[in-house]
Amino acid sequence: MRIAVPKEIKADEHRVGLTPTAVREYVARGHRLFVETGAGADAGYPDEAYARAGAEVVPDAETAFAAADLIVKVKEPQADELARLEPRHILFTYLHLAPDPAQAEALLRSGCTAVAYETVTDGEGGLPLLAPMSEVAGRIAVFSAAETLLKHNGGMGLLLSGVPGVPPARVAVLGGGVVGSNAARMAAGLGAEVVVLERSIPRMRMLDDVFLGRILTRYSTLDAVDEEIVKADVVIGAVLTPGAAAPKLVRREDLKRMKPGSVVVDVAIDQGGCFETSRPTTHVDPTYVVDQVVHYCVANMPGAAPRTSSEALVHATLPFGLALADQGLDALARDRRLAQGLNVQGGRITHPAVAEALGKPFADPYGAWA
Ligand SMILES: NC(=O)c1ccc[n+]([C@@H]2O[C@H](COP(=O)([O-])OP(=O)(O)OC[C@H]3O[C@@H](n4cnc5c(N)ncnc54)[C@H](O)[C@@H]3O)[C@@H](O)[C@H]2O)c1
Repeated sequence: MRIAVPKEIKADEHRVGLTPTAVREYVARGHRLFVETGAGADAGYPDEAYARAGAEVVPDAETAFAAADLIVKVKEPQADELARLEPRHILFTYLHLAPDPAQAEALLRSGCTAVAYETVTDGEGGLPLLAPMSEVAGRIAVFSAAETLLKHNGGMGLLLSGVPGVPPARVAVLGGGVVGSNAARMAAGLGAEVVVLERSIPRMRMLDDVFLGRILTRYSTLDAVDEEIVKADVVIGAVLTPGAAAPKLVRREDLKRMKPGSVVVDVAIDQGGCFETSRPTTHVDPTYVVDQVVHYCVANMPGAAPRTSSEALVHATLPFGLALADQGLDALARDRRLAQGLNVQGGRITHPAVAEALGKPFADPYGAWA
């Protein structure tokens, strides 16, 4: 298979779809790799490292897309990239289509096959290609919140950890999955008071066991969310219904009851966010204020740690990417976990939750959802 690794062009995105180590794995299996010049530079991988691993370094994205059948990226395709997609292309990347009808329309028009990292499953209800970035984002969420709480960043001027004799911040985490548990771990590690609101009882049991009472868990009802956001200095949004838009757990009128200068970090922003007032921001200009509540809604938080994130991402994508490279579309017929990652093919939406969110008909070409 001919495989392209373009340089990411989304604002503030510094990760790369394949590291030189991963390229070597593909090349060793007989595949040809076309890496756009500078693709890995921001993550610490120069062109020479890709060349040493056996890739052909090409001068621009146009050449990379034209040379390849499989395109391995990180973020959803931007306008220039969407325009380059053809029916022969298999696109393997994060897509987050549910809140993005414009991107969905462009992918449908292109006729390509698009496999979304965030909906590939592990066969046991987990999302193995989302998990490593969720680990990074959950951890970043806490030190971003800690920074934002400081006065000069618009916060109430509170030190997350407190000091002896002065209580720490109270952090409410909505959703105790991968993002939520990593955020809870960091927040507790820094000395904050932490409560995690969850809907899954087994998940809360697990958190309770792991944290040995160091954090509180609370079943996530409307009442519980109402009560906890009022007490919190920081609220971290980390809920997910796979493929679907995030549920809006905090409405605009709720902000008036929150503490002035409190901080919302809506990690779920890539699925539309779980606060009604969330809108995507970037690392360059990460925050804005609504009703005296500072919102941090960076849609690609792991992009701030491209070295760690690229490596962790590639570890998770490698087996699936190699299967696509080795078997082409047959990989989707052979592996239900990969087929559940398929979002768009030949002008049809092929993921049930994505179809529902976009109000489009759903097709199941590989019987992944039967
Ligand atoms: N902004 C970023 O850079 C970034 C990076 C990584 C992940 N994310 C996003 O973070 C979100 C969470 O990802 P994850 O990997 O932790 O998902 P996950 O599936 O591991 O966890 C989500 C949790 O939310 C819980 N949940 C669902 N509805 C709930 C409700 N009403 N109240 C409380 N809990 C509820 C689920 O039970 C589950 O445990 C996703 O939207 C993901 O795309 C964003």
